[in-house]
Order: sequence, then C-alpha cells, then structure tokens
Amino acid sequence: MSALNRSIALAGAGAIGTHILRALLNHPNHPKVVVLTRRGSKKDLPSDLSSATVIPVDYTDVAALTALFKEHSIEVVISTVPAPGYVTAQHALADAAKASGSVKLFVPSDWGVPTEGAKEEGNSLSVKDEVAEYLKSIGLPYTRIFTGLFMSFIPWVIGADAESSAYIQGTGKTPFTTTSEEDIGGFVAHVLTSLPLTSPDLVNTSLRIQGQKITLQECARFLNKSIVLVAEGESIPAKTDEEKHFKALVQTLIEGGMTSTGWDRRTNREIEGAAGSANKLWEGHVWQTVGSSSA
Ligand SMILES: NC(=O)c1ccc[n+]([C@@H]2O[C@H](COP(=O)([O-])OP(=O)(O)OC[C@H]3O[C@@H](n4cnc5c(N)ncnc54)[C@H](OP(=O)(O)O)[C@@H]3O)[C@@H](O)[C@H]2O)c1
Repeated sequence: MSALNRSIALAGAGAIGTHILRALLNHPNHPKVVVLTRRGSKKDLPSDLSSATVIPVDYTDVAALTALFKEHSIEVVISTVPAPGYVTAQHALADAAKASGSVKLFVPSDWGVPTEGAKEEGNSLSVKDEVAEYLKSIGLPYTRIFTGLFMSFIPWVIGADAESSAYIQGTGKTPFTTTSEEDIGGFVAHVLTSLPLTSPDLVNTSLRIQGQKITLQECARFLNKSIVLVAEGESIPAKTDEEKHFKALVQTLIEGGMTSTGWDRRTNREIEGAAGSANKLWEGHVWQTVGSSSA
C-alpha cells in the first residue's frame, strides 16, 4: 500500500538527518517534509536540499510545537537530535506530537546500537532507552531504528582517516553491523512512506537493519591500512581527548559484540537472526558495503 503525500517533521538535519531528508525529498511517494531547526541556528543545509521547508522552533515550547504539528497535519515525527537534546527536545517533541492529535508515529533519535534495556545501565546509551520508555508512558506509538555503526564513521573510529594505519583495540575480529548513511535514509523514507502507520511492522517496534556484517580487521584491509593493535586505554589517534575516549568506547562496544543490530542488552547476547531482520521491509534493495558505499 502506498501513502502518497504523508506529512513528516524531521527534527535535526545533521550527520544522519541530511541523509534522511535527501531520501524523503527524492522518494517517489512524495512526502511533505518540514525540517525543524533551533531558532537562531546558523546551520545551512547542503545545496541539493536547499529547497526543503525549514521551520525554526523552540524545543522548550510544547504549545508552539503542538500548533506547528497541527498546522502542517504532521503524521510522523523523526528525531535526529544529538545527545544534548535527547531528553529536553525529544520530550517536548513527544508531548507536542501526542497533543497534536495528528501525529501517529514518533521515531526517536536512536540510529545506532540496540539500546533496549540500556535504561538500567546508567551509561551514555541509557538516555536513548529512557526516551523510548517515555514514548511508551504517554501512549505515543514509536519506531526505534537500530543501524549499527554508520559506514562513513569506520575510518574515523580506527584512526585511519588521517593515518596510514588502522588502530584497533582488542582483537578486531568481532563481527559488527555497519550501514551506510545513504541506506539508512533510504530505508527510513521507504518504510515511513510506504507502510500504513498502524502497521505492526512499525508500531512500538525496534527495526534492526544491517548494511553489512564485518570486522574491524576486515575494514582495515578494505581501506588498505596496516593494522596496529592497541591495548585498551592506549591511544587511537584523535584530535581531542574526548574523541579518543569516544573512539575507545565505540571499539569496546564492537569488540564485545554490542554493535551488532542483533544484540540484546538485556540478555547480553546475540539474538539469532535478529541482525538485519528489518531489511526485509525494503524488498529488493541492494545494501551498500564497505568499499561500495558513497557515504
Ligand atoms: N551509529 C553511528 O555510527 C552514529 C554516528 C553519529 C551519530 N549517531 C546517532 O545519530 C543521532 C543523530 O546524531 P547526528 O550526529 O546526526 O546529530 P548532529 O548532526 O550532531 O545534530 C543534528 C541536528 O540537531 C540539531 N541540534 C543540535 N544540538 C541540538 C540540541 N541540543 N537540541 C536539539 N537539536 C539540536 C542541529 O540542527 P539545528 O542547528 O538546525 O537545530 C543539528 O544539525 C544520535 O542519536 C546519534 O547518537 C550514530
């Protein structure tokens, strides 16, 4: 079933949001899209997206967000806000979506490793799970999308973007999920404009997509980089200490298996067949792989 001219609000158009926006604007189902930007933000969209409707908003003003969703008959809210806005902006967006009466589905800013169950862990991923719990608590239907590591981030994570070597912590032999940003955008545009918004494939589900299952050692070989194995706590090249810690954290998640979209944090194990289980919703699509990706 096709749902032409669905109305979608996209909160944040940055690293992943621009790819989602591009895919929505180019989709044959022609959804109507409004991009929400923080009032006063100086962020420019890439030139090919400059025709998008961009509306400045105040993420603390639930009444104004509600009025905006009503005025544009918004049916789907997609959030790609980054960490500082996970709770404040997303709770306001969710409250407004619920109050609008028009929004039928909310896609929170997950876009990474599976976070179900992370709420109890008190770590940097917990807040993503808390947002999903909030959506549940207010009775707003939601779809979480787990993607694994964005494909274009791989060279950065192993310090190979600026160096001739790849710096790998641990064995680098654990398979993990990576999906290109272009495919993430394409998948989002496809499922959110083609499926009924009441579909059990969308409502209160976690969609686990996967472009490719690969190891960091295999990535280094694809990128033609020699491998330097570093002990945990040793430096992976980065511009700042914060970046170093973040790269180390991402590599720890990869080594532990948690970056597979088949991972279940509640049981600490891979669920057989779960990685990429939502790929079937985009029938016939050929997913990009490391080396083939244009992202
Ligand atoms: N799996 C991966 O490898 C991977 C990699 C990167 C990110 N992610 C995930 O993807 C999601 C989005 O990350 P991103 O890197 O795409 O985000 P981003 O580019 O840092 O931010 C997206 C947009 O959000 C707006 N924004 C910035 N700060 C905000 C705030 N405090 N409150 C509300 N809006 C704010 C900005 O737009 P305006 O200035 O126009 O308001 C910005 O362009 C996050 O959940 C992140 O964890 C995953």
